[in-house]
Amino acid sequence: MWALLILASIAAVSGTFHGEKVFRVVPQTAEHVELIKSMASLDVLDFWLPDSPSLVEQGKGADFRVKGHVAYDVQALIDQSGMQYEILIDELQEALDKQLDSNIRAVHSYEKYNDLDTINAWSANIAAQNPALVSRSQMGTSYEGRPMYLLKIGKSGLNKKAIFMDCGFHAREWISPAFCQWFVNEAINSYGTDSQFTSLLNNLDFYVLPVLNVDGYAYTWTSGGKNRMWRKTRSVNKNSSCIGTDPNRNFNAGWCSVGASSRACDETYCGSTAESERETKALADFIRKNISSIKGYLTIHSYGQMLLFPYSYTYKLADDHNELYSLAEKAVSQLSSLYGTKYTYGPGGKTIYLAAGGSDDWAYDAGVKYSFTLELRDNGRYGFALPESQIRPTCQETMLALKHIATHIMNNA
Ligand code: ARG
Ligand code: ZN
Repeated sequence: MWALLILASIAAVSGTFHGEKVFRVVPQTAEHVELIKSMASLDVLDFWLPDSPSLVEQGKGADFRVKGHVAYDVQALIDQSGMQYEILIDELQEALDKQLDSNIRAVHSYEKYNDLDTINAWSANIAAQNPALVSRSQMGTSYEGRPMYLLKIGKSGLNKKAIFMDCGFHAREWISPAFCQWFVNEAINSYGTDSQFTSLLNNLDFYVLPVLNVDGYAYTWTSGGKNRMWRKTRSVNKNSSCIGTDPNRNFNAGWCSVGASSRACDETYCGSTAESERETKALADFIRKNISSIKGYLTIHSYGQMLLFPYSYTYKLADDHNELYSLAEKAVSQLSSLYGTKYTYGPGGKTIYLAAGGSDDWAYDAGVKYSFTLELRDNGRYGFALPESQIRPTCQETMLALKHIATHIMNNA
């Protein structure tokens, strides 16, 4: 184990993901779980799903990246233990390089991953081009001073109900902001041509925040690919050299009680207090201010193909459990009808894991009845390195679920 630690600390400075592998293990015994946790405690593993080693359980799969150049040592240890495993990604840097179809950036495209500047220029442009349907405002400012732009989409009208959707909570989940952009475009193009979407936009306003964690997202784009796997915000923590808070553990919903860490160095750090992050505070403030109109809250993550609803901070069922469950069931069946993509659905705690401080639970308890988290493609084949060629099918199928949910809200809220 010590050799592993030394190797990892040398490798950590090298910058890219060359030689790094992503494993999927299925621990069958308590010893297997122990082995994973002890390797994790040496800080050589980056958990992809679940997002923290504390959530690893017997009989349940776990995907993680092995940091630095200890992939073979980790593999040897797993081999020795007799644990069932597969290598999801053999050469992470290669998978990341291939994730982008070409290196020509800066031109916005709905079928590419766009960097933050490109997304900001796009949102300015789309509002300017569609003044009757779209307006842009600044919802807040990030820790590092970046503007958080919010789009409002809908035909103007009095006392309209609204649905709030955000993307880009977790920096490395690049398919998420791509979906928000796709949604906005589809809304605009469908107005006046698609009767379902036209009626949605006549009756509802959609608030779309394409990137919540703007600092983190920008960080994953810094040259060298050094921090492509960043998840958290980029705020400085008192008494720690580790940076960032997990924005989806930072809301006032059973804050930091389960499935979250109080250690600043952890990927699921809940922050110094609920809403300690400027970005989460800005979101919560906006929803509080507009609570009388906001009837739906959707937060887009990846990966794992899941449609989740409250609660995640407790196994207790939500008051609206039955309605949310059957809505989720129908939305998922719509989604699957296009390409057969399989989604699981249900309350977060039971379906994925208990994790307190999430925005979905917070919004629900604040009075937004239709509150959902979507975990988009895939199921681990590429994970966060989902190729650009999958942006289109992912967004198309997700639109079907979204339209179903929005229509239900329009008719029932
Ligand atoms: N993968 C997401 C996360 O860990 C799932 C969020 C589900 N909702 C929740 N409140 N934990 O942030
Ligand atoms: Zn996420």
